[in-house]
Amino acid sequence: MASQTELAQKPGEMQTEGCCAADSHSQRPALNDPEAIRAEVQLHYGRVAEQQLKGRGGQDCCGSDFYDLEDLSQLPDTAVNSSRGCGNPNAIASLAPGETVLDLGSGGGLDVLLAARQVGDTGYVYGVDMNDSMLELARRNADKAGATNVEFRKGDLEDLPLPADSVDAVISNCVVNLTTDKEKVLNEAFRVLRRGGRVAISDIVVDGDLSGMPVSEEQIRAGLSWAGCISGALTISEFTHLLQAAGFQDIAITIEQRYTTEDFNGELPPALTNLSPNMLQDLLQRFTGSSIQARKP
Ligand SMILES: C[S@@+](CC[C@H](N)C(=O)[O-])C[C@H]1O[C@@H](n2cnc3c(N)ncnc32)[C@H](O)[C@@H]1O
Repeated sequence: MASQTELAQKPGEMQTEGCCAADSHSQRPALNDPEAIRAEVQLHYGRVAEQQLKGRGGQDCCGSDFYDLEDLSQLPDTAVNSSRGCGNPNAIASLAPGETVLDLGSGGGLDVLLAARQVGDTGYVYGVDMNDSMLELARRNADKAGATNVEFRKGDLEDLPLPADSVDAVISNCVVNLTTDKEKVLNEAFRVLRRGGRVAISDIVVDGDLSGMPVSEEQIRAGLSWAGCISGALTISEFTHLLQAAGFQDIAITIEQRYTTEDFNGELPPALTNLSPNMLQDLLQRFTGSSIQARKP
């Protein structure tokens, strides 16, 4: 049975853009064109990685605000600055020394490196990403951090390059929303987990649905950014059903933050800026940064 708990949060308290909700660079691919969506995601995160690889990454965009500053201070700047997450999956994964962990969509490696410290020398952490530049950046970051218990593999989350029953925990930070076949992604997470293993995911999910607006759900999603982690967000109900269908139990989805207009930095499409301010706020706060936990029986 799924549980949904909402943490107390004051309006406007969300401190970050999460997974870069304001995304002025990317094209808006058609929602029914998975290849175009995938290409947009590749391009967007390839750019993020290239900037860090060329030393032009500048300040961190958004993702690292969710972490303990002391933890971040011990990691390479290029790992921290490339972070594009919307939460801190390690904070909910309860990792223990000796465990084997997989990070879905490992990006520049921040969550992998933090997990590697939690599982210690007797544990091991895999990161999987489809983007060559991100993989290069992550491997460089692991070298700089001196991490020897990590490995970054190229692959698609819909077809993971790991054997069945091989990991204790699957973590992920703002990536499930980017994928075009979420059923396959969650089935794959289930396959690679050992019995009793768990998922600990931070992601953007929609609280309720996107109905009741003068614009259709399709118009809303088409105008927002997929690469910015918004358009492809599942509803809490959809996420719960996909986890159940994959075989997971003890499913819990906890809302951590809600989006506001400020999080989009003026990058909203005309279909939405034409809404009254109250209606727009009502719509955007349905997009949430949430923690998703579940267990393989
Ligand atoms: C929002 S970033 C998050 C990276 C990292 N988890 C973090 O918190 O910074 C998304 C990452 O997922 C990767 N990604 C997106 N879709 C993927 C897929 N279908 N298969 C493998 N990697 C994917 C991207 O290449 C990118 O590096």
